[in-house]
Amino acid sequence: MRKENIRNPIGIFDSGFGGLNILKEIIKGLPEYDYIYLGDTARTPYGARSQEVIRNFTEEAVGFLFKRNCQLIILACNTASSEALRKIQREYLPKNYPNRRVLGVIVPAAESAVVRTNNNCIGVIATESTVRSKAFEKEVKKLNPQIEVFQEACPLLAPLVENGEENSGVTELAIRNYLSPLLRKNIDTLILGCTHYGILEDKIRKIVGPGINLVSEGAVVADKLKDYLQRHKELDDEISRNAGAEFFTTDLTDKFQILGSKFFGKRILPKRAKLG
Ligand code: DGL
Repeated sequence: MRKENIRNPIGIFDSGFGGLNILKEIIKGLPEYDYIYLGDTARTPYGARSQEVIRNFTEEAVGFLFKRNCQLIILACNTASSEALRKIQREYLPKNYPNRRVLGVIVPAAESAVVRTNNNCIGVIATESTVRSKAFEKEVKKLNPQIEVFQEACPLLAPLVENGEENSGVTELAIRNYLSPLLRKNIDTLILGCTHYGILEDKIRKIVGPGINLVSEGAVVADKLKDYLQRHKELDDEISRNAGAEFFTTDLTDKFQILGSKFFGKRILPKRAKLG
């Protein structure tokens, strides 16, 4: 069991439960650090919301985590990373916390996909807001403008996972439907651009076959974070290391016990967070 009462942790934010999957991988790679997880379970999902609302919610979440002394925050949510991260980095941080940092999950996944593609055709599956933002496409093109990026919004997948349907025929059908336009584009690499899709990786693998690289964010984000901390010693030195973890959600329901275990692999006892 990890300790509580931690001092200068790394904050992990997600719109709900899915980010626990990312936190699990981060803890595997960096077990000695302290963490605070915040899931905005009262207002999840973010995936079909407007940019303005996603920005407001994400700023409130970041404010909550900074007040708890987080030195660095990872937006584990693709939707928040796509729609809110740039504004937070450019406006919120310089004004409020110039020495702290907020990072997202889009750049690590884009970097990994660019390294892995051989035919320069990358597919992305994500929520509607992430697709609308074209965040993955922009990051991939910054790294290599020759690469073509094909996106598909999959609004049913996250709710199916949250309702325990990940092994059902309905989910398989939905995945097949969402992937078929991408497979016709001859992609050789597919970014699983939503916190919930890691849970569906085996199903997706079965459908796309062995010839397509799958970029699943948990391990990729953990590796890039390790690298980032090695390159930013001044920030790394500020983060406390007592192998602690605390969990907050904006709504306390039984669902968190079930989904918490599914995404994090262990039972979690969250505390209530008030945002806004
Ligand atoms: N966490 C979101 C993401 O990664 C998925 C759930 C939601 O729509 O809020 O995009």
